[in-house]
Amino acid sequence: MNEKRTNHYKTDTRLVLTGRNSHENGGFVNPQVVHASTVLFEDMATLRGEKKSRYKYGRRGTPTTDALTDAICDLENAAGAVLTPSGLNACTTAILSCVKSGDNIMMTDSVYEPTRDFCDGLLKDMGVTTTYYDPLIGAGIESLFSNNTTAVFTEAPGSQTFEIQDIPAIAAVAHKRNMTVLMDNTWATALYYDALGHGVDLSIQAGTKYMVGHADVMIGTIAANKKAWPNLIKTHGGLGLHVAPDDVYLALRGLRTMKIRLEQHHKNVMDVIEWLQTQDEVTRILYPALESDPGHAIWKRDFTGATGLFSFILSPTSEIAIRALFDSFELFGMGFSWGGYESLALQPDPSKCRTARPWTEDGHLVRLHIGLEDTSDLITDLDNGFKALRAAS
Ligand SMILES: Cc1ncc(COP(=O)(O)O)c(C=O)c1O
Repeated sequence: MNEKRTNHYKTDTRLVLTGRNSHENGGFVNPQVVHASTVLFEDMATLRGEKKSRYKYGRRGTPTTDALTDAICDLENAAGAVLTPSGLNACTTAILSCVKSGDNIMMTDSVYEPTRDFCDGLLKDMGVTTTYYDPLIGAGIESLFSNNTTAVFTEAPGSQTFEIQDIPAIAAVAHKRNMTVLMDNTWATALYYDALGHGVDLSIQAGTKYMVGHADVMIGTIAANKKAWPNLIKTHGGLGLHVAPDDVYLALRGLRTMKIRLEQHHKNVMDVIEWLQTQDEVTRILYPALESDPGHAIWKRDFTGATGLFSFILSPTSEIAIRALFDSFELFGMGFSWGGYESLALQPDPSKCRTARPWTEDGHLVRLHIGLEDTSDLITDLDNGFKALRAAS
């Protein structure tokens, strides 16, 4: 359990201070990168556990992993936090910590697809059933609970379709039945959504995205409240999970600049959206910070900011025209993930995996991650793309 807190300071100050203590670290500003497996014990009493020692074995924590988990606990106001080798692994480890064979988990239909694949594959094989629910269901989720439901997984907004969930309403009905509430909070991060403060028990982040911020590390984090922590640390330890020290260090380093990066991502998104709104082919923009977005009221109530990922709908056109749009981009890279300093474009098809709330939007969904480039260059790139799309239509 972590006791070091910086919450008497403002967020910018907290991000500078959290997860480090120069006085305990030879005066160096940053924590050491400790490469370790074996830890040598001072004497038999320490080896036997009669005398306390913080470190026992590299897999079970080092000063480097402590620095990042301390920071996560501090920023998320959590009882404990663990690091995982990827964001997806943070989702699956968190799920495994609160279900056993014979249980049922409620899963938002808008969930990140590989998390869904885990539920439909490995989890099913283990004897755990998954019930998908409409992300907009709110407290109505109660009517879908079964006697064996032990956990409710949320993700807000959905990372392709951007539905905002009423997490406090869902958590209130889930907690009446002693269920564990999980949230994939990667889009907003701990800076823009206080997951545990809104009733979540296990707050998950794909640190690969904004925490790292440079598209060069895979890592996940799970922050737990007091109730969820014992099962989480047991599951994490039992699975033998460990993240390499250089990657942990880079995630901690990314945290220092996360707030200013997020502010710039959002500012850049708004410039790009303003331009997209003038294009005849764009029929809808999915970004909860926009007043026109159906999730805006809850976003405004519960979130304190918006980040760099959003989608828009292009009116129906040919496959050739879509290819022309994407193939003309010079600045928007085509590739998975998001949250780095660079802009990205993808064309997912949500209708392929929905079961509880079918995706019926007419037209093509385009997802953009807006990076830290100058937005006039990004808009020129998009403009060239739209010209190519029109020429090919
Ligand atoms: C919302 C969301 N959660 C989890 C993940 C998984 O993270 P990782 O790629 O680090 O496994 C992703 C990756 O794109 C994501 O978009």
